[in-house]
Amino acid sequence: MYSLNGKFGALVTMMALLLALLYCYISLSFRVVVTFEQEQAIANGRSAGTVRKNHVFHLVAPDHLMYKQPSIVEGRTDVVTVTPWLAPVVWEGTFNPELLDSIYRQQNISIAATVFAVGKYIMFLKDFLETAEQHFFVGFRVQIFVFTDRPNEVPKVKMAADRGVTVHAVPSSNRWQVISARRMELVQELIEQKLQGKTDYIFCLDVDSKFHNRWGTESLGGLVAVIHPGYYWDPRSNFPYERRAQSRAYVAVGEGDFYYCGGAFGGNIEEVRLLAKTCRSNFEADSADGLEAAWQEESHLNRYMWINKPSKILSPEYLWQDFKSRNREIQIIRFSGIVKNYADIRPNV
Ligand SMILES: *[C@@H]1O[C@H](CO)[C@@H](O)[C@H](O)[C@H]1NC(C)=O
Repeated sequence: MYSLNGKFGALVTMMALLLALLYCYISLSFRVVVTFEQEQAIANGRSAGTVRKNHVFHLVAPDHLMYKQPSIVEGRTDVVTVTPWLAPVVWEGTFNPELLDSIYRQQNISIAATVFAVGKYIMFLKDFLETAEQHFFVGFRVQIFVFTDRPNEVPKVKMAADRGVTVHAVPSSNRWQVISARRMELVQELIEQKLQGKTDYIFCLDVDSKFHNRWGTESLGGLVAVIHPGYYWDPRSNFPYERRAQSRAYVAVGEGDFYYCGGAFGGNIEEVRLLAKTCRSNFEADSADGLEAAWQEESHLNRYMWINKPSKILSPEYLWQDFKSRNREIQIIRFSGIVKNYADIRPNV
């Protein structure tokens, strides 16, 4: 009887030990995620508790979803699909849209987009909104935030349930450089005052552009940059980075990865908040020194992305320019800047 109890006791001890080990293992693996979030939170000056979910690290596909077999030996060979820091470069043919959509649909994500329609730029808003409704995250919860000095002229566009437009009035400005400069400030404020804890991702887009094809869940990531269509065949010494060392947007000759668009960028709202906050304060510090970077916010964005590597890069399919003939490697144009006459729309050039 005694010996049986002894064995039973040993068994219980063993079980308890195993459970303790399992607990340690689980809490340790969990710690990895928490640590990342805490770091982010510290960098952002917030407590860890407000970070909602961790989409990037945990992609859950629906059970029994049927789709084309992936391959690591067949696929696009005409373009580079990964950066030297192993961020994917999104090109047509590198992703399965149905698979990605079904992964993100289960997460019930919501996406914000910002667009600035100041002065005569309001004329581009109708096409932007109508084509966004046809191509931008179709089937997902999307809120487009329009910043304009002409709120009464914002066109009514019919949108699906769970999608909408919110108008924010901003003062007009007589210099387009100033309008461009204030964007980062407004993006930061929007995230802090309206989006934190409610929205998962945000994209900041140029209004003088139209969607032509899908822009969807394949574009989601922590920090997402779009390669500028004008420079990706060029050596980096040709990139129009800010080249004065006194500027906080300075990138030296021989430095830099790609030339990224100021007209489209985004990612997780915390990452974009950090980017907007940093670019804004660098911009303001430059201003105080009487400096304006070569391409204003785009220069500061490029400097930021040189140090803070984007976790996902979108190919120039994601911001082409209508006046450019389509290069061979561009199999599809998703979003493109329309041809415009600057003298007509900018208050000063
Ligand atoms: C998705 O999130 C929204 C907003 O939080 C909520 O109203 C809706 O019920 C959610 N849908 C599902 C399927 O969980």
